[in-house]
Amino acid sequence: MHTKQLGVLSRLAVLATSASASTILFSGGTVIAFNRESNLLEVIRNGSVLVEDDRITSIYEGSVPPSSVSIPTDVEEVDITNKILTPGFIDTHRHGWQTAYKTLGSNTSLVDYFNRFGEFATAAEYPYGKDEVYYSQLAGLYEALNAGVTTTLDHAHHTFSDETSEAGLEASIDSGARVFWAYAFHVLANYSLEEQFANYRDIASRASYDGSPTTLGVAYDSFGPNPNITVINTLLDLIRESNASVLTTHSVQGPFGITNSPEDFQALSLFDKLPPTTPVVFSHASFLSPVGAQLLRTHKHTISITPESEMHYGHTHPTSHLIQDFASLGVDTHFTFSTDILTQTRLWLQSVRRLLYSQVLDRWQVPVNNPMSANQAFLLATRNGGLSLRREDLGVIAPGAKADLVIWDGASPGMLGWRDPVAAVILHANVGDVEGVLVDGKWKKKDRRIVDEKYDEVRERFLEMRGGCRTG
Ligand SMILES: *[C@@H]1O[C@H](CO)[C@@H](O)[C@H](O)[C@H]1NC(C)=O
Ligand SMILES: *[C@@H]1O[C@H](CO)[C@@H](O)[C@H](O)[C@H]1NC(C)=O
Ligand SMILES: *[C@@H]1O[C@H](CO)[C@@H](O)[C@H](O)[C@H]1NC(C)=O
Ligand SMILES: *[C@@H]1O[C@H](CO)[C@@H](O)[C@H](O)[C@H]1NC(C)=O
Ligand SMILES: *[C@@H]1O[C@H](CO)[C@@H](O)[C@H](O)[C@H]1NC(C)=O
Ligand SMILES: [Zn+2]
Repeated sequence: MHTKQLGVLSRLAVLATSASASTILFSGGTVIAFNRESNLLEVIRNGSVLVEDDRITSIYEGSVPPSSVSIPTDVEEVDITNKILTPGFIDTHRHGWQTAYKTLGSNTSLVDYFNRFGEFATAAEYPYGKDEVYYSQLAGLYEALNAGVTTTLDHAHHTFSDETSEAGLEASIDSGARVFWAYAFHVLANYSLEEQFANYRDIASRASYDGSPTTLGVAYDSFGPNPNITVINTLLDLIRESNASVLTTHSVQGPFGITNSPEDFQALSLFDKLPPTTPVVFSHASFLSPVGAQLLRTHKHTISITPESEMHYGHTHPTSHLIQDFASLGVDTHFTFSTDILTQTRLWLQSVRRLLYSQVLDRWQVPVNNPMSANQAFLLATRNGGLSLRREDLGVIAPGAKADLVIWDGASPGMLGWRDPVAAVILHANVGDVEGVLVDGKWKKKDRRIVDEKYDEVRERFLEMRGGCRTG
């Protein structure tokens, strides 16, 4: 039997055993819930949250459930006194396979990145094998889960061969994280687009991710200028056939000329041709134009702002603060900088403040109002990510939402003394304060440790594999 078949079988076994109903009741702590009527965050002190299987089924104040709620006798009770319960963070742009390059890109510009670490440089000079991709992707997803990131839109450009493509998908499924795994189609010397299309169809028909939180999407970076219409029509077919959960593209306009802009999509009539269940995420959208912003609002697609990467690599985000209503946050190449959305959120919040304050100061006036709140930043990192993926059930604590949750230690030295839990998380917490993480109602981090009996082995194998990758 092939190892791949074994992998699928063991995964089925895991799914079968976890299929029996599991119920968790969190109580006694502060819950940052979302009120769907007001569309605002709602803080519940001494709150209780009931999770049944993969969903949040009930939220109430105090420890006595309302009469309509029955708590099963075999419930796992979790006391969250002095803790803060939030939805998991959502990262709408990342390349998980690059974990093996950690710290090697500390000085890179975007041009250096392409020449040394990008998909084409890697494919041409230091091709990863399936184990390199698998362990790099898995270690990277554990890094994200550890930091309270429960959903990742992975622009998966480790598609160098059938084997490496499938290894990255398999690692995503095995991590238990909610991965929107977007197969990247690209022109490579030794792996033709036709082979990639066939591989995608094969992956979609086998649907090994069914029953896991991972879904299949598409990534492509040549919508403009000079798009290949034959390729784009094939991608549309693939998206329709597979009911792709997302389409994503790198858009860096201005002097960079990597347009992939909303205007390019409009010129190709893609906003009309895409199925309504396939949202588009334009990563970075640096130098987005007013026309592009209007197209996003009309067709309800979004950008992923990756604050640290856009500053690190130099493409920046000159207009992104003007489209925060159709935006979410991402990390991008986590091998070069912070892996977590909390840091991205804080960087973004303070850079927007600085930018908007400067506009007042430029008129020799004194800014009186703070232009962006901690609550707005919290929503960008959570609910807006869900909306980018057209998923009302992600990024919120509300009845019916997916149970993707983070427990923060509100009594840590850095958090102690908080009154506003949103400000405590956004402005005072750090990744070390993440005590517990659940995805789909299943523990992924508990008592500050990754929940996976094979995690030590994953770490060892990852370090071994890393040796075979580029070192400079
Ligand atoms: C939480 O609510 C319960 C009643 O439902 C009460 O007994 C308990 O004292 C409350 N805890 C705090 C810290 O207020
Ligand atoms: C960063 O730049 C310094 C100075 O140019 C250089 O010595 C160092 O090797 C660079 N580090 C990496 C990881 O490229
Ligand atoms: C493509 O395959 C050929 C033959 O196996 C090999 O010699 C060459 O190095 C490969 N090129 C790349 C870019 O991987
Ligand atoms: C477009 O892509 C197809 C499929 O890979 C290829 O056969 C064709 O030559 C490309 N057309 C152009 C104009 O590059
Ligand atoms: C397509 O996927 C969406 C979620 O992305 C789901 O709601 C819908 O039911 C799916 N449609 C089909 C035909 O499978
Ligand atoms: Zn990227």
